[in-house]
Amino acid sequence: MILDYQKFCQQHVDDALEQLLKAPSTELQRLYAAMHYSVMNGGKRVRPLLVFASCQTLGGAIQQAYGAACAVELIHAYSLVHDDLPAMDDDDIRRGQPTTHKAFDEAYAVLAGDALQSLAFYALGDEALSPISCQQRLEMLKVLSAAAGASGMVGGQAIDLSSVGQSISQTTLELMHRHKTGALIQASVRLGAIASNHATPQALDALDNYAQAIGLAFQVQDDILDVTSDTQTLGKQQGSDIEHDKPTYPALLGLKQAQDYAYELRDQAQEALASFDQRANHLRQLADYIVSRSH
Ligand code: IPE
Ligand code: IPE
Ligand code: MG
Ligand code: MG
Ligand code: MG
Repeated sequence: MILDYQKFCQQHVDDALEQLLKAPSTELQRLYAAMHYSVMNGGKRVRPLLVFASCQTLGGAIQQAYGAACAVELIHAYSLVHDDLPAMDDDDIRRGQPTTHKAFDEAYAVLAGDALQSLAFYALGDEALSPISCQQRLEMLKVLSAAAGASGMVGGQAIDLSSVGQSISQTTLELMHRHKTGALIQASVRLGAIASNHATPQALDALDNYAQAIGLAFQVQDDILDVTSDTQTLGKQQGSDIEHDKPTYPALLGLKQAQDYAYELRDQAQEALASFDQRANHLRQLADYIVSRSH
């Protein structure tokens, strides 16, 4: 079920992304090739799915949310390209292929990441991709910039890097995860809600609670998979966190407790959706998927 919906979302967002990633001139071909390589390489597209599912939960059509769906995936792709650089996690495999700095070079990986970030905000502001009011588009820009920058994902990455080899408290670990992964997941849900044009303060609150829980659960499961999965299934180097002495939930709590915590967060997410009708079923299924996924 969730797999069918995942495919459906993937098709919609990938078509729109292809259009955004066309090189406008031969001089820019290598840069666009690096951008295209970094995005169109089989990601799970969980964040666009969240945008679409949240929009549909509130009665919107996914066509209202193309800009937001592309934007969150572009920010995500950029964050992965930079995350894999030698200056950060120094990883060689991503989505089963060489990381962007391996397939191209470090300079192009930095530039492709930069350009993908700018493209995200272009997509969000573009009238054709976000056919909603100017005020709603402005609100969406505010939400995404806060989630992507120092108060969100980039801030989380900074805490991550400064925590390597340190013993940090569970509070700091949670703060790090809520920033580096939770913020963009929360923004995805909120952007879908704004794009639906039917967001009430109560609905936004409930969706926020849902998104906070799955956002943290997503990174807890990512940490768990680094220990329990294998490189081929993951499409990225298994054991990378351990090798680099990264602060993770299994490292801090042990595997069993980390798993229990992920399930607890899934239950919190399901409770947060209690007031919604069956249109929230994709969000419900996604909460289950996040803590049971194998990659
Ligand atoms: C991996 O994200 C990085 C994290 C934020 C945990 P995903 O697991 O969504 O990666 P892709 O997009 O499917 O490759
Ligand atoms: C990355 O976290 C979160 C980002 C903001 C990119 P990880 O470093 O755990 O992601 P993976 O495991 O490399 O995908
Ligand atoms: Mg990292
Ligand atoms: Mg990494
Ligand atoms: Mg990881």
